[in-house]
Amino acid sequence: MKILIVGSGGREHAIGWKLKQNPVVNLFFAPGNGGTEEIGENIPINVDEVNKLADYAERTGIDITVVGPELPLTLGITDEFNKRNLKIFGPCAEAAKLEGSKAFAKQFMKKHSIPTANYNVITNMEEGEKLIANSSFPVVVKANGLAAGKGVVICMDREEAITALKNMLVTGIFGEAGNLVVIEEYLIGKEVSLLCFTDGEAIIPMETASDYKRALDNDMGANTGGMGSISPSPYYTPGLGDEIANKTLDGIKSEGFGYCGVIYIGLILTDNGPKVLEYNVRFGDPETEALLPRLESDLCQIMMAVTDKKLSGCKINWSDQKAVCVVLASEGYPGEYETGFEVDIPKTKSFVFHAGTVAEEQPGEQSLQLVTDGGRVLAVTALGSNFEDARKVVYDDISKIQFEGKKYRTDIGATK
Ligand code: AMP
Ligand code: GLY
Repeated sequence: MKILIVGSGGREHAIGWKLKQNPVVNLFFAPGNGGTEEIGENIPINVDEVNKLADYAERTGIDITVVGPELPLTLGITDEFNKRNLKIFGPCAEAAKLEGSKAFAKQFMKKHSIPTANYNVITNMEEGEKLIANSSFPVVVKANGLAAGKGVVICMDREEAITALKNMLVTGIFGEAGNLVVIEEYLIGKEVSLLCFTDGEAIIPMETASDYKRALDNDMGANTGGMGSISPSPYYTPGLGDEIANKTLDGIKSEGFGYCGVIYIGLILTDNGPKVLEYNVRFGDPETEALLPRLESDLCQIMMAVTDKKLSGCKINWSDQKAVCVVLASEGYPGEYETGFEVDIPKTKSFVFHAGTVAEEQPGEQSLQLVTDGGRVLAVTALGSNFEDARKVVYDDISKIQFEGKKYRTDIGATK
């Protein structure tokens, strides 16, 4: 079976690694990275080249395409594949607005009685200033569209809120993504990522995970794409998010989305119960790198069940082990960083998923050399019977992996 995975990060390497456990699977990655090349073939098509991806899948007889990142989904990759009768794991563009437009997602939640922070959507400074004048602080200001995780500002006072609004609505630092702004109530609680498989008719929550967004230990430093993750979330009681998952499915059904893939529910566990902070319409990164090593069932069969709309009969099994995933980043990330440094990965007990690596030809050498090619370079995951055991394994392995400027957090999975 030929499976095309769209994307080039640790998430896509982890999805491929898990799919490959089924011996009938042959993998293709577009565009992939230095690690995916070891388990499949990298195809030089970028994730936003939707028509080229569909042409490739059609021409080469791909059986199913799995979409990693949100961008191609919001660009309508699923609609294009559906038009051509090509199987694809990922929702259509209308449903992808649940991630691509925060105003759309909030409206969806309100309409379907899904608990979330109180909010207003505004389009100009005048409306914003009026609202801010009557707000209590902190208040959360969010750019409507995709902003690479940087479009959310937690404002401690009026001045900060006005600056955030001006940046989005007047200066336009997020371009069109900031033409609409959501202003919402600040919620307090532990955050949990609840990813669910859904075929639009049934929904099956996976085990939970939590990611570490800040660059430095103790949640200090800049926001990043994720410096690590753990699974399960220690703050979650099984079943806590089921009602929200079911209401989300009811909403998906009544909107007629025909959803197929993963719906990622970003939960916050408040004193008034779990509420939804955000939806993503895909697997999380780096949550996936912690989750999939715990998955005991065959991912290929699950994905087939989803695309064939037969998910309700699926039984999905997970290991009881705890997972700790630590991201190794380039010095300077999430700011400026250099690439092209040789990466040396000895034999490890942990799973090493590649994110920003490339296998390059070296002058005069026969074999390819793995070098750094991105801000997040590797995502290293270990399992253990408890988080401390998993931490020991992962940090021991990390000490053996070498590349210039290797940076990572030392507190992933630590119990405080
Ligand atoms: P979002 O992209 O909407 O999930 O926001 C990114 C991050 O901002 C979340 O993971 C939270 O840490 C924080 N955040 C977003 N909305 C709120 C809120 N209403 N209250 C508190 N924190 C929030
Ligand atoms: N880890 C957060 C995300 O994938 O959006």
